[in-house]
Amino acid sequence: MIPIANPIIDQEEKELVNEVMDSGMLIMGEYVKKFEKKFAKYSETNYGIATSSGTTALDVAVKSLELEEGDKVITTPFTFIASSNSILYSKADPIFADVKEDTYNIDPDSIRELLKEHPNTKAILIVHLFGLPCDMDEIMEIANEHNLLLIEDSAQAHGATYDGRKVGSFGEVSAFSFYPTKNMTTSEGGIVLTDDQEIMERARLLVNHGSPKKYHHDILGYNYRMTNISAAIGLVQFKKLDKFNEQRQKNAEKLTDGLNDLDWLETPVVPDNREHVFHQYTIKTDYRNELLKYLKENEIGFGIHYPMPAYEQSLYKKLGYKDTRCPVTEKLCDQVVSIPVHPALSDEDLDYIIEKLRNFR
Ligand SMILES: Cc1ncc(COP(=O)(O)O)c(C=O)c1O
Repeated sequence: MIPIANPIIDQEEKELVNEVMDSGMLIMGEYVKKFEKKFAKYSETNYGIATSSGTTALDVAVKSLELEEGDKVITTPFTFIASSNSILYSKADPIFADVKEDTYNIDPDSIRELLKEHPNTKAILIVHLFGLPCDMDEIMEIANEHNLLLIEDSAQAHGATYDGRKVGSFGEVSAFSFYPTKNMTTSEGGIVLTDDQEIMERARLLVNHGSPKKYHHDILGYNYRMTNISAAIGLVQFKKLDKFNEQRQKNAEKLTDGLNDLDWLETPVVPDNREHVFHQYTIKTDYRNELLKYLKENEIGFGIHYPMPAYEQSLYKKLGYKDTRCPVTEKLCDQVVSIPVHPALSDEDLDYIIEKLRNFR
């Protein structure tokens, strides 16, 4: 079986984790601080606040903007549920914009349409889906024109660039995930990035019980801290991130070269000014059911990212999103299939995947 994801953990991660174990400082220490500094600098931002997961990073990112109950935040429904849930955690209201059929990312024209209907919108939460940066020129233009705060869910796009600039550095605040299937891992883990000192200070309080010093609690906070064990894994993985991404890009190029003449599928697009880091390699096809059966029979792992728009989830239906319609997203949810692109694939694995897909119909 060729798995859809396969995190690469070597001796070096194990040795640094052992060092943390031996130090007795399992949480809150030098490893976390070092990791925060390195990842923030790499992503071209001033401050990094490490967290226990990508979900808690997103929660902190949104909460650090101090939205009020009922504030509207425009976002995409074509993503993992944590993206829009992070708006709900702040008691704000997600408003769903549709995505672009070619890039799978939020459609700036759809944002503009929604702003006519909801002119008092406070923020936009974008997702650089599958590792491809959103249309940042247009999104920044909309945000500036309408005075909107910008949150970047960069959970799937470590190191991706738009016009040479790293994702996570465009908005007021951004969040990353280091879940094991991501471009780099800390086991569970996440980080909040920002250039704004006040946002950084609030985020620091939020992840640690609102506590500027021991047993003093200034705001309602949480225990969302990253452990030193996770940070140790992250420090080693971080050194390999660019290599991992390069391998993902090479694998994607090989898949595209081998598949893009087939008339029953569409391979992912990469607009000129963007560096795609291929967290997922997601194709589109009108023959998905048959294809999934065929992939299973041939022991090729796959994922459906994502089978349903966020607003169609029971949770959102109960919240009153019954009438939301994003036609492009709905179509994509029936067409998409992610196939393996991770850096642990061998040339033989890729040749096998290409050969099998070429023989599908
Ligand atoms: C787009 C997106 N946002 C947020 C998350 C949440 O991250 P985590 O699973 O680390 O909580 C994920 C990861 O699964 C994701 O893919």
